[in-house]
Amino acid sequence: MLERTCLLLFIVHAFAYANDVLPEAPNCGHQIIDSAMELRRVAQEGEFPWTVLLKYDGAHPYRCVGSLINDRYVLTSAVCVSAKNYIMIGVVVGVHRLHEDARSKFYGIEMVIRHEHFEDGKNQFDHDIALIKVNDTVKYSGYVQPICLSKSASLLQPEDKVIVTGWGMNAEGDPVDTKKVIIRRVIADDVCKDKFAKYSVTVGDGCLCTDTLKGFKDYSCAGDGGAPVVVKSGGTWYQVGIVSFGGTCGHDFPDGNTRISKYIPWITSNLV
Ligand SMILES: *[C@@H]1O[C@H](CO)[C@@H](O)[C@H](O)[C@H]1NC(C)=O
Repeated sequence: MLERTCLLLFIVHAFAYANDVLPEAPNCGHQIIDSAMELRRVAQEGEFPWTVLLKYDGAHPYRCVGSLINDRYVLTSAVCVSAKNYIMIGVVVGVHRLHEDARSKFYGIEMVIRHEHFEDGKNQFDHDIALIKVNDTVKYSGYVQPICLSKSASLLQPEDKVIVTGWGMNAEGDPVDTKKVIIRRVIADDVCKDKFAKYSVTVGDGCLCTDTLKGFKDYSCAGDGGAPVVVKSGGTWYQVGIVSFGGTCGHDFPDGNTRISKYIPWITSNLV
């Protein structure tokens, strides 16, 4: 009888604390379509199922993107939770096309945790990271899955391809309806720092810089803030960045993305 009680306690404990841990492969970074790192304008249904739409109050509800990192938390940029004139009301998971809710589900917000050293409105974007705790346990499906987070900076080298998914504008500046898939390439930190220095923007070491891949016309644009930057490694998808800042959409200029591997300690210490 005593043994049985212990076992029960253990199970209850494990469930009660499940939302403060990050999943490890193979419990994250998998999708029903085993897609490759290749060019396509839009996702197929079920591709990149960790991509989350943030929803705001008012006439323009879709301004930012996030990623599902476990069954209670969405990762996004601090900018996306900072604008005083835009009130975030929740997140939508399982979205393929905007305004279509066959498989999507809305969750309200329990808590927003913004990086304590992020400073809004300066010419630097250090610590552009935030967590949104939703007010209920997110139900996983083929269309709703968490992404694995990359713990190692060495997963990426300059020239490596990365994928960004979201519902921001396209390269022509038009709104999109279906989940976009953008390919960018990693560039060296010093190259990136030099390019932004010309515009008096300071790029810190928490930044993962990407720019246009030769022969491609893919750009992170307005509305893609907070979007996951991912790579596939050993059959599992890992998030390596969060879309943070960049030049004018449609121009071959670098983007700054928050570098996930640098913020793993911050993320894990803020999951409660
Ligand atoms: C979560 O929040 C939403 C929107 O605010 C609300 O409709 C819903 O009832 C809440 N769910 C729980 C479990 O509290």
